[in-house]
Amino acid sequence: MNFPDYRPRRLRKNENLRRMIRETRLSVDDLVCPLFVTHGSGVKTPIDSMPGQFQLSIDHLIGETQKIRDLGIPAILLFGIPETKDEQGSGAWIDEGIIQQAVRRVKDEVPDILVITDVCLCEYTSHGHCGVLDGEVVDNDASIELLARTALSHARAGADMVAPSAMMDGQVLAIRDALDGEDFEDIPIMAYAAKYASCFYGPFREAAEGAPQFGDRTSYQMDPPNAREALREIALDVAEGADIIMVKPALPYLDIIRMAKDEFDLPLAAYNVSGEYAMIKAADERGWLDGKRTMLESLVSIKRAGADIIITYFAQEAAELLR
Ligand code: PBG
Repeated sequence: MNFPDYRPRRLRKNENLRRMIRETRLSVDDLVCPLFVTHGSGVKTPIDSMPGQFQLSIDHLIGETQKIRDLGIPAILLFGIPETKDEQGSGAWIDEGIIQQAVRRVKDEVPDILVITDVCLCEYTSHGHCGVLDGEVVDNDASIELLARTALSHARAGADMVAPSAMMDGQVLAIRDALDGEDFEDIPIMAYAAKYASCFYGPFREAAEGAPQFGDRTSYQMDPPNAREALREIALDVAEGADIIMVKPALPYLDIIRMAKDEFDLPLAAYNVSGEYAMIKAADERGWLDGKRTMLESLVSIKRAGADIIITYFAQEAAELLR
């Protein structure tokens, strides 16, 4: 069918028509809300480069989680900021660690929301790398043992799901083995399978206080120009027992999200990262973009590309508009 018989504009005439033929629908069911939890009480420290986001002590975390639950968002993703750091990142797995305490309290007081925990060492190590060092090199096999220990401690505290983000080879298998070894075979793993060495994490590193003190993460996170390698990375995580796979960041990697969707049948998550959030907030503050519409268009593009789950700092704002 060609013009003048076919006129695509006929179905764009009004909102009811557009609603009828809309192919992708964003829903609160798709959203996961990341939160930063810190020590102390009564703490709600704004994160400069992420307007509307805060470092929260556990008392504030509870209130925030209740709000998120009331908005209908199914899950939160917790990042911890420990009181002290050391070479090994021991704050990541100790029983009285910030995440372990936070998870126990949230599961106790807001039991009807899913609690997912980020499993990484970068917020806990004095050097800020995602694993332990051998000289100036991140030691893969030593690191995955510590990541497994960390995931296990989260499960013991009551986490519903763990999300390893360190990009160490074999981390999913090590975590699956550790969980199964203690009767946590029902705890799913959401694997940051294709995580790129991205400058879009900049604001997060301020938020979570986890910037590397020397060097960068290019020896373990993926090289941005690579696409086929992402499929190999994802295939490895699937083989190691991932239940949900993730592509991260989202907007600059929509092609990777689409490839992953076409190739794998596991649920697919995409992480709309801190820099993606900060750009829209900054442009909105200057009056250069309409923040809300830009947010919704960005989120729907991530879903249209193939994401089933969208991890986003916009979760609460989006949920308010989607209700
Ligand atoms: C920890 C981790 C990072 C992010 C999530 N988990 C930072 C990094 O890898 O440097 C980034 C999240 C964001 O930018 O929103 N490894």
